[in-house]
Amino acid sequence: MLRIGLRYSENGCCSRVLVAESFYRFLSTKTGRKLQDKVALITGAASGIGKATATEFINNGAKVILADIQQQIGQETAKELGPNATFIMCDVSNESDVSRAVDFAVSEHNQLDIMYNNAGIIGSNPPNIVDLDLALFDKDMSTNVRGAMAGIKHAALVMIPRGSGSILCTSSVSGVIGGMGTHAYSVSKFAVIGMVKSLASELCKFGIRINCISPFAIPTPIAMKHLSKIYAHLDAHKVEEIVNNLGVLKGAICEASDIANAALYLASDDAKYVSGHNLIVDGGFTSFKNLDFPAPDQVQ
Ligand SMILES: NC(=O)c1ccc[n+]([C@@H]2O[C@H](COP(=O)([O-])OP(=O)(O)OC[C@H]3O[C@@H](n4cnc5c(N)ncnc54)[C@H](O)[C@@H]3O)[C@@H](O)[C@H]2O)c1
Repeated sequence: MLRIGLRYSENGCCSRVLVAESFYRFLSTKTGRKLQDKVALITGAASGIGKATATEFINNGAKVILADIQQQIGQETAKELGPNATFIMCDVSNESDVSRAVDFAVSEHNQLDIMYNNAGIIGSNPPNIVDLDLALFDKDMSTNVRGAMAGIKHAALVMIPRGSGSILCTSSVSGVIGGMGTHAYSVSKFAVIGMVKSLASELCKFGIRINCISPFAIPTPIAMKHLSKIYAHLDAHKVEEIVNNLGVLKGAICEASDIANAALYLASDDAKYVSGHNLIVDGGFTSFKNLDFPAPDQVQ
């Protein structure tokens, strides 16, 4: 099988070359770069998980388009990540923005290999159902669910004719078990996992893989903003400490780089037969619940 590769000359000009699949794999193994010449579009890439993933993808040979609603931070991030990162302003709740971002990736690099629907919001709905604001619920759904669906649709439009591609979405542990977030956020993240499984059934027919990552709590801006309202009397360092102490895996904390590593695995040929999967990165948190037996010496 032949594959289109990108060759960049020293003056930055890009030309397309046909390489044999086996030779391509050989090159990737030789350089240790798992995404050599791949083009990725990552939404919500101005900070946190998206930024960490963009960094990891670029370190592995990819060209990355960072799509985000935060123009200034997004541009600064792209500058920080170097010439293989480009920023585009994109509100994922607006389908035409998503379509424009996909078109931009293709016009800049002639292809789109990886689409990572990562943008998300926690929203400001209260945790109790009787106070649920349905307008705020719709806002969560329009970013977290509609935004991811638009990303899948527009990536599929360019990936289906090529017969290849890898699509990723960020859900959450809040989409795996209840009680981990507000109802609106949790429902939206359950929907993302459902979306991935539903879409896998169609996209497999075109050689396109689609997978999901469900991270544990990480003190990125989204989490810090949400928790700083609850712990308004505490400084950011203390709130960060609270987040980092929520896990169950002794001696480790969940970091954005852990999610970036999961994304690299799922996006690369290492996961060439993995589709419709939800990779939970939570140190085991959602896998078990210990029975709280009293110690033998405490019962008669
Ligand atoms: N941090 C956590 O604890 C945690 C845990 C589980 C899942 N997640 C999920 O991870 C994803 C990334 O979040 P993060 O932790 O990196 O937080 P973050 O705040 O660092 O990043 C979220 C990014 O999404 C962008 N964004 C928000 N709305 C957007 C829109 N409409 N269009 C485009 N971009 C938009 C923000 O500007 C921001 O840059 C989110 O989907 C979030 O729900 C986060």
